[in-house]
Amino acid sequence: MLSTNHNHQLPPADPIIDTESLDSAADISLRPQTLQEFIGQDNLKQALKIQIQASLQRQETLEHVLLYGPPGLGKTTLAHIIAKELNVNIKITSGPAIERAGDLAAILSSLENNDILFIDEIHRLNKNIEEVLYPAMEDFVLDIILGKGPSAQTVRLTLPPFTIIGATTRVGLLSSPLRDRFGSILRLEFYNKSQLAQIIKRAAQVINVNIDPKSIKQLAKRSRGTPRIANRLLKRVRDFAQVHNKGIIIPAILDQALDMLKIDEVGLTHVDRQLLGVIIEKHQGGPVGLDTLATSISEDKKTIEDFYEPYLIQLGFLKRTRQGRVATKLAYKHLGYALPADKNAAQQSLL
Ligand SMILES: Nc1ncnc2c1ncn2[C@@H]1O[C@H](COP(=O)(O)OP(=O)(O)OP(=O)(O)O)[C@@H](O)[C@H]1O
Ligand SMILES: [Mg+2]
Repeated sequence: MLSTNHNHQLPPADPIIDTESLDSAADISLRPQTLQEFIGQDNLKQALKIQIQASLQRQETLEHVLLYGPPGLGKTTLAHIIAKELNVNIKITSGPAIERAGDLAAILSSLENNDILFIDEIHRLNKNIEEVLYPAMEDFVLDIILGKGPSAQTVRLTLPPFTIIGATTRVGLLSSPLRDRFGSILRLEFYNKSQLAQIIKRAAQVINVNIDPKSIKQLAKRSRGTPRIANRLLKRVRDFAQVHNKGIIIPAILDQALDMLKIDEVGLTHVDRQLLGVIIEKHQGGPVGLDTLATSISEDKKTIEDFYEPYLIQLGFLKRTRQGRVATKLAYKHLGYALPADKNAAQQSLL
């Protein structure tokens, strides 16, 4: 339920597309340790830096922070960095791990002055558990009900001041009272190619692999704007280079390795292509409902929404409309489909 400065998560089943937000021990060693080392997310970093510095100067507990954005962009990494920068303990739990209000009460009452409690997947907290969290976040108190029925009594425990860092891929699913209790709400964006190139360069040094600048650039282009994927692909390409090129990564080796993994030149996987293909081939470009899409490609709805769609939207290949998902002209072009002949229909469906 709770771990301190430690990650009990198991390595993911799919080494490339990790939709379960699991990181292996090797990934953890790739994590930057300070804000200085953390590449990209400049606006967010600036806001955090000021918040951290101000709280250190005033010797006050950091206000609660909510980090949100697609998987693998650095939310967990940032939570650890914040703890390091403040020189405080971090305890780690997650929304689904807290099953009863009593679990949360136990966690909260174990916190010490200025500790950070990192709650991953905070959107998955139960409603009745959220209610325990509200007064704890706002006034650092814990209301405990003793006994049952008419003789039940509420006892109020005072907690030492602490900071909640919440992380979520789905900020829209957070209730507004919970959202309102965060002092800052920070969004992580996809990384651009030059930032990813810096991340890959650093990772290559950490895992000690020989890769030339051209290959780094190529890999950055094919990493879905996501450091976790960049790191994963780097390791898979390293394996390939090990077997085929004495461990040295050059563009030709990189191409072969990524082709074998079915990652195309803009980083789409076969599932991305399948998803767009279904919209285009079976539904004339859309709109298509999420349920229909999920069934047609045998993927989980949550995975489609959290993992596949954000990057397709970012590339301008997909639009979410009230009627459903629509494939754009760019998607037709990228996948080599001819645009629909009927111009009106084309304009309607391709927004
Ligand atoms: N800015 C960065 N610079 C260098 N490496 C990074 C950066 N951000 C993330 N990483 C790397 O990517 C990996 C994934 O990051 P992290 O686990 O923090 O993502 P996350 O946002 O918490 O994902 P999830 O939503 O799946 O929990 C980390 O192990 C780290 O090595
Ligand atoms: Mg995480």
